[in-house]
Amino acid sequence: MVSESINLSGRIVENVFLYIAAISVFLLVLITFLMIYFVIRYHRKRNPQPEDIKGNTWLEIVWTIVPTLLVLSMFFYGLKGFQSLRKIPEDAMRVKVIARQWSWVFEYENGLKAPELRVPVGKAIALSMTSQDVIHSFYIPAFKVKQDAVPGMTNHLWFKPMETGTHDVLCAEYCGLQHSYMLTKVIVLPTEEFQKWYEEGGKKEAMILPSGVKLFEAKGCKACHSIDGTQLVGPTLKGLFGKTVTVMTEGKERQMVADEVYLRKSLLEPNADVVKGFPPIMPSQKGFLTEEEIKGIIQYMKELK
Ligand code: CUA
Repeated sequence: MVSESINLSGRIVENVFLYIAAISVFLLVLITFLMIYFVIRYHRKRNPQPEDIKGNTWLEIVWTIVPTLLVLSMFFYGLKGFQSLRKIPEDAMRVKVIARQWSWVFEYENGLKAPELRVPVGKAIALSMTSQDVIHSFYIPAFKVKQDAVPGMTNHLWFKPMETGTHDVLCAEYCGLQHSYMLTKVIVLPTEEFQKWYEEGGKKEAMILPSGVKLFEAKGCKACHSIDGTQLVGPTLKGLFGKTVTVMTEGKERQMVADEVYLRKSLLEPNADVVKGFPPIMPSQKGFLTEEEIKGIIQYMKELK
């Protein structure tokens, strides 16, 4: 049995799995068959007088050595597979994976950053991953690969997609309330198509900024702030940019213009200047949003006329 997995490194895992499964199924059938056979063959009706057996040295040697060899073969086959998974092919294309609450960022060697992982078909891809906050786990079920993204350290994973297509990427480690939002795609493209995207994307900074709408939802802003004028727990963001607002600063009322400086401060120190009439309950987004995301969200707010 040889695996048909669409990812080369997944095939290694799958072959070991199939090998162990095949041995297990064979033993299960053999033992079940023998058990039933013995129950019938040595039933009391057929053998009213039990016989005392002293033992059989050869039989004992065989049933010690054969299983030992079988188990060792599983171990070595598995070890070989594990080593090939650890050993990143030298010609691999390198991509950095940054995990954070609650999204993935893929950073390519030319500086291109994207929320989805685009790769060329038939090429080994080496991912080096880390996390900006808590432990996440990068998981591509279709490729049978999974690796934790841990803050303060870099983990590695490689795969080599053998077919074009789009597959889900999940976070497989519970990482907080919006854990389920950490769903993205790995898109395996024909080589030329990938090359075109890679070169164009490298030049265009705009297409790689995470979109404001997505951030607004993914970061949980929409739980408290509407974009259509409805008042929720916090003030609506509709038409906020450029407006003069009355805020409470250390208990005193004052007027401020909701410009970029104000919005940025409201994200990082939300309780410094709270809009009058609202409770000071917003959590600081410091360390929670990257500089890029702050820009993305402010840009989005400017558009909410
Ligand atoms: Cu990240 Cu779960």
